[in-house]
Amino acid sequence: MIDHAPKTHLRLGVAGIGTVGAGLLKLIERQDELRLPGRLEVTAVSARSRSRNRGVDVSGYRWFDDPVEMATADDIDVLVELVGGSDGPAKLAVEAALKAGKAVVTANKALIAERGLEISKLAESRDNHLLFEAAVAGAVPIVRALRNSLSGVIVSRVSGILNGTCNYILSEMLRTGAAYEDVLADAQRLGFAEADPYLDVSGIDAAHKVMILASIAFGAQPDFSKVFVEGVSDIEAMDLQLADKFDYRIKLVAEAYRANGEIGCRVAPVLVRKDHPLAQIGGPLNAVVVEGEPIGRLTFTGPGAGAGPTAAAVMGDLARLFEGRSGPPLGKLTGDLEGRFSSRAPSEDMASFFIGARLADRSGVFAALTEALAEADVSIDKIIQDSAGEDETAPVALITHPTSRSTLEGVLAAISEQAIAADKPRLFRVETRS
Ligand SMILES: NC(=O)c1ccc[n+]([C@@H]2O[C@H](COP(=O)([O-])OP(=O)(O)OC[C@H]3O[C@@H](n4cnc5c(N)ncnc54)[C@H](OP(=O)(O)O)[C@@H]3O)[C@@H](O)[C@H]2O)c1
Repeated sequence: MIDHAPKTHLRLGVAGIGTVGAGLLKLIERQDELRLPGRLEVTAVSARSRSRNRGVDVSGYRWFDDPVEMATADDIDVLVELVGGSDGPAKLAVEAALKAGKAVVTANKALIAERGLEISKLAESRDNHLLFEAAVAGAVPIVRALRNSLSGVIVSRVSGILNGTCNYILSEMLRTGAAYEDVLADAQRLGFAEADPYLDVSGIDAAHKVMILASIAFGAQPDFSKVFVEGVSDIEAMDLQLADKFDYRIKLVAEAYRANGEIGCRVAPVLVRKDHPLAQIGGPLNAVVVEGEPIGRLTFTGPGAGAGPTAAAVMGDLARLFEGRSGPPLGKLTGDLEGRFSSRAPSEDMASFFIGARLADRSGVFAALTEALAEADVSIDKIIQDSAGEDETAPVALITHPTSRSTLEGVLAAISEQAIAADKPRLFRVETRS
């Protein structure tokens, strides 16, 4: 049986001493400066390389090559899982710890988004703690807010900028006019992007995070297969700059919303008006906007990643463990999570859309573009054509009146057959609400 009485002392086993793990150990060294209700003691650590310099002295902690073995050690009360990945050692260690009656604190969004249901069920069946504030938006305390403080709110939408790497890249492309590949290379040099940026730029990282928020906010069992995901790698600097002339920013928006009795969940580049709270979020910051009754709208913002901010979020969960029982991991018991994620692709949803393209240098192409749209019954709200550059193609951007994405995909296919555009046109939804 788990002892849920308040504690004054917790013994930790830290699995993973990379960016976040090392950040956490450094913060624990400074615990006298924090406001914790008890004492944290690191008894054991686990990573792959024992000899790697981590900028923090780990020689005083018991070393485990295998985090799963550490998870069940007698002298730990809490497994802090900072390895990462939805399967493999992270999942095995978390499961072993929960079964052995150890509380689990993790920053692992892939694990919670993809395996959250089974892991939460396991935690519940053992009446055990599973906390994961650091898995979403780093230092921004949005998981706890949705789970606890906002549990009295009927949420209609949660939207956010949940990937600082993408937000940095888009902010820099707009600021400098540089191409995606060049800005990504700079971001990697400056430490704003991983050597392998795939999970970030593909939108999958943001999708993991929004699935976690959606599950809690809408009381639904996590189902990662239901998130529709698009990344940022197709966006051109000209799209950002022409959207700016329309008074919009292009952001990678992760959002979950109620529609037709189901929950839609998607990640995609979206044009948001410059006076929308998400448009104000520049560089590597994260933000989450929660909308619902009877509160209206709440905006949270702050550093969404990095050693310090993420370690601070882990520390908040550890502080919570001193207080005793922490409740079901996803807010409600997994058996009571009755919300349903929609399988319906958002391509039939009516919305305004942005099209950005470079038009071929031939007479009549501009008219051919507008004719192709008119033939599909799509009316244009705004259109800009910039003067042709050295490559003698003319950047064009337009915003349509509400139509469906699939209609516009048909138009773009026709445009491509007639060689009207000199590049592959981009199609992004426009959020017209401020
Ligand atoms: N970095 C961030 O800003 C951030 C923000 C929010 C959430 N997170 C999440 O936090 C977790 C950790 O991220 P991170 O950036 O700290 O990753 P990281 O720097 O790559 O560190 C991963 C750690 O796990 C260890 N590890 C990997 N495979 C292992 C194995 N089989 N057995 C034992 N140890 C193993 C590594 O050991 P070695 O050091 O010996 O290689 C390393 O210490 C992930 O779930 C991530 O999604 C990270």
